[in-house]
Amino acid sequence: MIEWTTALSTGVELLDEHHKAIFQWVAKLENAAADKHTLLGAYAITRLKNNAEEHFAAEESLMKSAGYPDLAEHMAEHATFRAKLRELHVNSVGKDISADTVRFLRNWLTEHVAKTDMAYVPFLKRQVAQ
Ligand SMILES: [Fe+2]
Ligand SMILES: [Fe+2]
Repeated sequence: MIEWTTALSTGVELLDEHHKAIFQWVAKLENAAADKHTLLGAYAITRLKNNAEEHFAAEESLMKSAGYPDLAEHMAEHATFRAKLRELHVNSVGKDISADTVRFLRNWLTEHVAKTDMAYVPFLKRQVAQ
């Protein structure tokens, strides 16, 4: 099960709320996959895709205004994941989400938030303090 903890806090409430919601949709997706609940799985992937798109846009715009130096690499990670979510979304109609897919999403999100997102925290904090 994927869970948000305060260790993953960005110091920006909006981004933390986004992360929590994204993790919740992955957890729902995990349950749907385990129960072979096709409709719930398709719904959860739709919500996950929409939440992630909204979140990535918000995060990218905050990083941009903070002059974050690794913006391009960060945006490239988002772009790859966005494409993967779109593909999963298209393929989710009438099909169960596999345990492998859930594992991939969980690992990618945990890794991305814990490493890639945490790297911008000092830069965003510095900007807020100014
Ligand atoms: Fe994020
Ligand atoms: Fe990110």
